[in-house]
Amino acid sequence: MSTLFAICTTYEVEDGGARAFVLQRREPEGGAKPWPILVTRKGNNFYGFENVCPHEGVRLDKQLGEVMDDEGNFLKCSQHGAMFDLDSGQCFAGPCQGKALTAIELVIDDGDICLSDIDLDEEDGLDIDDPSDTVPEVHITSD
Ligand code: FES
Repeated sequence: MSTLFAICTTYEVEDGGARAFVLQRREPEGGAKPWPILVTRKGNNFYGFENVCPHEGVRLDKQLGEVMDDEGNFLKCSQHGAMFDLDSGQCFAGPCQGKALTAIELVIDDGDICLSDIDLDEEDGLDIDDPSDTVPEVHITSD
């Protein structure tokens, strides 16, 4: 049986929107390190990505920025403006055009957006610097 980790509820991510979280992931060699992720939504479909721009490896929200375009159609890196599809994470414009965000499988369970079988630490990692200062509280539960 898979272990599910609830990130947030589905209604906490607006249609055409994205939310950033910083989890704490265990390393195979021991210890744990912050793991920034994004959850996006298109209609009733939800998509997860590592919050790491394929251009320079920084968080898309590194520069105090909004990671969505004004109309909520795509993700935008605040560093140099690369644009990514909300559902595929594919970069269609900008300095890393043709590359893609690393996808994370999400499971929707009874209204919760969950990660499955990811080795997370008990600490949620929310104590690291967050330029947008909008990282929500993360609740981790397991089935
Ligand atoms: S770091 Fe994201 S576009 Fe350059």
